Amino acid sequence: MIGTVLVTGGAGYIGSHACAALMEAGYQVVVLDNLCNSSLVSLERVGEICATSPIFVQGDVRDRDCLDKIFHAHTITAVLHFAGLKAVGESVDFPLEYYDNNVVSSLVLLAAMQQAGVTNIVFSSSATVYGDPPSVPIREDFGLCPTSPYGRSKLMVEDILADWHVANPNWSVCRLRYFNPVGAHPSGLIGEDPQGFPNNLMPFVAQVAVGEREKLFVFGDDYATADGTGVRDYIHVMDLVEGHVVALEYICRQPGLHTINLGTGNGVSVLDMVKAFEHASGQSVPYEIVKRRPGDIAACWADPRLAETLLQWTASRSLAEMCEDAWRWQQGNPRGYA
Ligand code: NAD
Ligand code: UFG
Repeated sequence: MIGTVLVTGGAGYIGSHACAALMEAGYQVVVLDNLCNSSLVSLERVGEICATSPIFVQGDVRDRDCLDKIFHAHTITAVLHFAGLKAVGESVDFPLEYYDNNVVSSLVLLAAMQQAGVTNIVFSSSATVYGDPPSVPIREDFGLCPTSPYGRSKLMVEDILADWHVANPNWSVCRLRYFNPVGAHPSGLIGEDPQGFPNNLMPFVAQVAVGEREKLFVFGDDYATADGTGVRDYIHVMDLVEGHVVALEYICRQPGLHTINLGTGNGVSVLDMVKAFEHASGQSVPYEIVKRRPGDIAACWADPRLAETLLQWTASRSLAEMCEDAWRWQQGNPRGYA
């Protein structure tokens, strides 16, 4: 299915990579983003990568008039819905902002899609909906028990999409549960640009390696894991967004409600990541073990077999490649897009 895709949150980290992947696959792209956590430079860089830029509309997904104008002006065949707030810790302090942004935006978007007759949507969900899983790897049919307002906002939208699909069985809904997206486009032109203190491991490690920060704080070395540090399923952002392109093609062929993990199936510890990044960058990454971060779990990785079966997609890039690409981006853009 080649056509025009509306990408909400398309100026952000994953959204900008998705724009590049969609355009390289032949899609036209319209981005709606309010730039609350991103810079327009990301889309200018997508333009450099793809030789043409996506159409950009600055606006809020909660603004129904803005959505109606987009659906009126363009023949949109599908929506990739990335827009939202994503910091787990911040969501505990500002729950209303998280529910308002993440849940209300999705409601307004679905209503506008319904009116415009746009029937295909891919939603950015998260492995955080599983909470602390009883075992790993995590399958899609595991129980759902998010432990933060952020995670609950994702689960609420998943439920809304399921109910919406019951009422509209011929429509196509894909709920993609991402594990830990890292890395950057191999060009080094686009990447993750966290505002202020990075919450996530990879951007923090990259900032230490480039000399922006003195050392990494490793949150606990007393977990029941091989080296005592937390284990996660890091997935290269390019693999992740290629997964979106195939998911989009799949749901356009197969109307239904689909829920799919996007991960590699490999568990990587914090110290594994430090070593891999040191190797990729040739820089040392000093670290200090500190106490556990509240709310963290010991280990989390995906069972990726459903994605393989349904989408014929597997994540192919190695941890070394994730670190090399993140390092290229970090070196070329030590202060991000600023
Ligand atoms: P990001 O913050 O880089 O991108 C989100 C984009 O949405 C930003 O450009 C922001 O300006 C925009 N935005 C936010 N609220 C908006 C609104 N109301 N209207 C219009 N634009 C709005 O985040 P990301 O890492 O690219 O994440 C994209 C999606 O993937 C999010 O929904 C996030 O919850 C989900 N996700 C991310 C991760 C991760 O680790 N990065 C993991 C799992 C799921
Ligand atoms: N960690 C450190 N030091 C840091 C940052 C992280 O030791 O400075 C450790 C954490 O304790 C954890 C691991 O590195 O063991 C990964 O932490 P991240 O913050 O990078 O990622 P999380 O798994 O905690 O959460 C991320 C996103 C969530 C998303 C989840 C699953 O932040 O939004 O992955 O997709 F829901």
